[in-house]
Amino acid sequence: MRRIAIKVLGPEYGELIWKRIEILGDVAVIRKSFDLPTDAFKAIGEELLRSLPYIKSVWLSTSPVHGFERVREYVHLAGEIKTEVFYREHGCMFKVDFTKVYVSPVLGFDHMRTARMVRKGEKVLNMFAGFAPYSIIISRYAQPSYVVSIDLNKIAVRYARINAELNKVSAINEILHGDALLLTESFSEKFDRILMPYPELFEKALRVSLEAVKLGGYLHPHLFVIAENKKNALQKAFEIVINIAKEAGSIVEPIGGHVIRGVAPRKYHVVVDVIVKTKQVK
Ligand SMILES: C[S@@+](CC[C@H](N)C(=O)[O-])C[C@H]1O[C@@H](n2cnc3c(N)ncnc32)[C@H](O)[C@@H]1O
Repeated sequence: MRRIAIKVLGPEYGELIWKRIEILGDVAVIRKSFDLPTDAFKAIGEELLRSLPYIKSVWLSTSPVHGFERVREYVHLAGEIKTEVFYREHGCMFKVDFTKVYVSPVLGFDHMRTARMVRKGEKVLNMFAGFAPYSIIISRYAQPSYVVSIDLNKIAVRYARINAELNKVSAINEILHGDALLLTESFSEKFDRILMPYPELFEKALRVSLEAVKLGGYLHPHLFVIAENKKNALQKAFEIVINIAKEAGSIVEPIGGHVIRGVAPRKYHVVVDVIVKTKQVK
């Protein structure tokens, strides 16, 4: 990838660009981060097609993620005009249209990291499931009794259901369309574990999940943190989560976490793992 980028764009831009190429199945997506004309990207698209026979289509993403669906805008660069891909992660296969549903290989490590924590028989809730990679990887590699997934994007829900079938885990997966903040309040049964992989709704999601989790259960809120460095970011995230839980009448204890990525200078996307030690009795 690096060689191709440098060959087409020269060392200055080539070095910058090759790290911004994502492979989703047989499609390559280049994230545009600086002001090169689209034609310069077209040349790299053509070269990617020539050099990597498994790549059938190349796209340029021209905007940051936006809207509640968290999708980007794209321009076609080279090859077939196709946006529905078969994306592989940890031996699971996911069908998804990357222009209509949030997809990011950056979460791949955390999908498996979370699955490894799930114990046999757990009832798991995934509040912001997207095309359901957390839910399906948990279903394949742990032994939950069931996993409930929610998403507000109808197209994500459609792909999540297809993916549960594709990976032969539909029997233990319930996939719901709706607002997770409202639906989470409506369940009569409490969950052993709740995932909140959407930092934009962090505080509201944490508050409703504290109601919906069992005493002794686990929460995995995602949040943005301003910090000097990665290590401080995790520590700061622990403090923020502990304080919000306290305000809501619960005591939570951090047992782990992971800095998913830097999103801006000194701003990090972090996931925190906590166990719920005490809960306000209602
Ligand atoms: C960062 S993406 C999820 C990523 C996904 N869990 C993964 O691992 O790839 C956030 C998701 O939350 C969904 N969403 C946004 N607001 C929501 C809400 N109020 N209730 C449920 N889902 C929501 C979006 O449609 C989007 O699919």
